Amino acid sequence: MIRQILKMGDSRLLRVAKTVQRFNTPELTALIEDMFDTMHAANGAGLAAPQIGVSLQLAIFGFKENQRYPDAPPVPETVLINPVLKPLSAEIAEDWEGCLSVPGLRGMVPRWTTLHYEGYDQNGRVISRDVEAFHARVVQHECDHLAGILYPMRIKDFSRFGYVDVLFPGLDADLDE
Ligand code: NI
Repeated sequence: MIRQILKMGDSRLLRVAKTVQRFNTPELTALIEDMFDTMHAANGAGLAAPQIGVSLQLAIFGFKENQRYPDAPPVPETVLINPVLKPLSAEIAEDWEGCLSVPGLRGMVPRWTTLHYEGYDQNGRVISRDVEAFHARVVQHECDHLAGILYPMRIKDFSRFGYVDVLFPGLDADLDE
């Protein structure tokens, strides 16, 4: 079932999400199904549970190709629960980000370029990955949602924050997170 995506300004997007306590339950399975339905309907690259008003440490992401990173390998479809991130170097890179909760806008956001993340899938199996580039960016963006942080809160240079049709005229639908 496609759920309504909350937009920036809704205080539910600013909460720290609660830890998932039980895996592999019918409720969790149904919630994750709804999240994939909602993300795919919105042509998103990722979605966090707080974006549909559910305060849980749960995010999904994954896509085959991305116009912003045409040479980047596809990011596998992932359900990530109770995640923990650690940077693998001090290197930071800026790149454009969008968000399904901030429709129509793009901003230049600094992120770690390489990181290790751990968490669990919907069955409680451990996920442990070292990633870089867009995969690393998407994970940081989604985990920020679980901490009540939206990407505009991380922008350093507001001269590079604007409407996607003005910043990138002629660009077809790109992926939001
Ligand atoms: Ni987002």
